[in-house]
Amino acid sequence: MSSTHPAAILPQKGGPLVVKERKTPEPGPNEILLEIKAVALNPMDYYQRDYGLPPIPVYPAVIGGDASGIVVKAGSDAATAPAPGTRVAAMATAYWHDGLPDYGAFQKYVIAPSEKVISIPDTITFEDGAVIPLAALTSLTAYTSIGMSLKTRYTPDDKQAILIWGGASSVGTFAVQTARIIGFKVYVTASPKNHDYLKQLGAHACFDYKSDDVISQIVEAVKKDGVHLNTAHSIVIGSLEPTLDILKETKGDKPAGVVYAPVLPPDHPTLDNTTIVWNYPPIDPEERRKHMVECFEWLAGALKDGSVLPSPPAQVEGGGLDGLNAALDKLKASISCAKIVVPI
Ligand SMILES: NC(=O)c1ccc[n+]([C@@H]2O[C@H](COP(=O)([O-])OP(=O)(O)OC[C@H]3O[C@@H](n4cnc5c(N)ncnc54)[C@H](OP(=O)(O)O)[C@@H]3O)[C@@H](O)[C@H]2O)c1
Repeated sequence: MSSTHPAAILPQKGGPLVVKERKTPEPGPNEILLEIKAVALNPMDYYQRDYGLPPIPVYPAVIGGDASGIVVKAGSDAATAPAPGTRVAAMATAYWHDGLPDYGAFQKYVIAPSEKVISIPDTITFEDGAVIPLAALTSLTAYTSIGMSLKTRYTPDDKQAILIWGGASSVGTFAVQTARIIGFKVYVTASPKNHDYLKQLGAHACFDYKSDDVISQIVEAVKKDGVHLNTAHSIVIGSLEPTLDILKETKGDKPAGVVYAPVLPPDHPTLDNTTIVWNYPPIDPEERRKHMVECFEWLAGALKDGSVLPSPPAQVEGGGLDGLNAALDKLKASISCAKIVVPI
């Protein structure tokens, strides 16, 4: 193995990414070195490239979060990490490592903390594997953010419902799948062309968010179905207000919990007896580590037994590391029920 590898480097705030060789690092005690086969793109990636947000403390930087590939080396204490040679999906965490470039996914070799690596069955391609980590993790963090255990399992007799506003987003497709496993009756907003796909993933009913009367359509359906709707995951920007308009009509005198995936503005709308939180893992490093272990174990089990599938469909773009700028521009322009993936 060569001592250097190609990386798409962000030289300064505002990009663009530039491909250069950099030294291949050694994994620390609880880390693995991953040979990357594919990366998947998230809105945070172009925010970081174009606006330096979330803040990047160190330039030149290597950004990028979602990756899949093959474990090359495991650190001395990475006892529970998949062995070298294992096919995995991984969440690269430069964001959590003061922006250190060894931890960004947009390069051929990356260091990942062992708890953020998940084995993928041979039935899942590297392209499909790369779509999983951040979106699936975010869908699970939604439950723990409002105090729900991931072990929760409702039966139809419990009549528990959830609203997922933005079901065709990457996070939304996993939100639908995980909500179905928990036992919620799942009400989803998305463009009509995506309704059939979301029903295959587990949605009970889908609604076009562009309809003038979408709020009353959802309220009427929930009342007709006789279920309790006091839980919601608002995933896209601007979805908190319509979510609260619906819960106001459906929650009755029960408390409600709403998780918002974009950054929650301080002056956000509120609703009586309703907890509204930003979807975010614990800040304390040890609490966060435990949370990641719990989520990734949950996911590993669900991928193994086939109850969770990679979603939304991968939209594969070419060019490898050199193609990342154009692929990020495509994501920024708009995407519908697809995850842009670049083989590396
Ligand atoms: N808090 C966290 O840790 C965390 C982690 C990851 C992402 N996020 C945030 O979560 C959000 C979603 O990210 P993502 O990567 O999943 O997004 P994405 O896949 O890029 O979302 C695209 C989808 O959003 C849907 N959409 C757009 N406007 C909508 C509206 N008004 N109502 C309903 N659906 C709408 C579109 O659905 P149709 O095609 O059906 O029209 C489209 O398919 C972003 O704000 C991101 O920053 C937060």
